[in-house]
Amino acid sequence: MTMPGAFEPSPVANYLPTTAIIEEAENFTARDRYFRLSLERPLGHRPGQFVMVSVFGLGEAPISISNPPGDAPTLEMVIRNAGSLTQVLHSYGPGDAIGLRGPYGHGFDLHDFLGRDVLFICGGLGLAPLRSLIRAVIDRRGEFGRVMVISGCRTPAEEIYRPDLTAWAERGDVDIVRLVDNAANMPWKGRVGLVTEPIAGLKLDPAETVVAMCGPPVMYKFVLLELAGAGINGDRVFVDLERRMRCGVGKCGHCQINDIYCCQDGPVFRFSEIAHLKEAFL
Ligand code: FES
Repeated sequence: MTMPGAFEPSPVANYLPTTAIIEEAENFTARDRYFRLSLERPLGHRPGQFVMVSVFGLGEAPISISNPPGDAPTLEMVIRNAGSLTQVLHSYGPGDAIGLRGPYGHGFDLHDFLGRDVLFICGGLGLAPLRSLIRAVIDRRGEFGRVMVISGCRTPAEEIYRPDLTAWAERGDVDIVRLVDNAANMPWKGRVGLVTEPIAGLKLDPAETVVAMCGPPVMYKFVLLELAGAGINGDRVFVDLERRMRCGVGKCGHCQINDIYCCQDGPVFRFSEIAHLKEAFL
């Protein structure tokens, strides 16, 4: 039986791909394309889990799930064009079919966040997996304390999920800080700087705050230092190491850090449990 407030458990992973149809596709940035797929049945995922997306005859890649858990037979995701497979996927649009397996991995557990102040720290494409949890928290807004989102990217042209960030800011009950490293002479109403910079100004309550973060490796070290300075204990910080995966099912070893496999033991980890793994934050 599922405890009140928990996400439904994921079904046993299916190693055979099913076919999913693209309902909507949109280029978020020059490198990142958004997809909404219709499925035969709800995915049954937790925020932070991922799916293996395949192009028949070409190969497959692990992709984070962006939509919140729920009853809708839908999958949202953002795919970065970073190779031959994703290049083909970027040519796909509504009506096209792709292969899908999953969900895989250990995601976030809502019990770790219920009743707390929640701070999300998203770097670049890291907003894609965190959007699933942010949406789940906002859907149940009354069950949390402060909800804060720091979202940073290199330039305004690289920001993903812009309509969501705008909508969350307009609610009035979510603190949103949007930053770019460099406005690059483009129109930009957010801040210019690094995602570490707004943390001190949020005046976090260390006894009440839980943090979820995902971004490029270079971001983690500095954010973790800033959080430690704000008194946030490592057992209240959850990191998503989704970037390290390749096969997604414990076979290739690409995601291995010492004795852990990110794809099977993670990709979401409590920081205090992996703080000794220096390689995880390089
Ligand atoms: S991604 Fe291949 S073993 Fe984890």
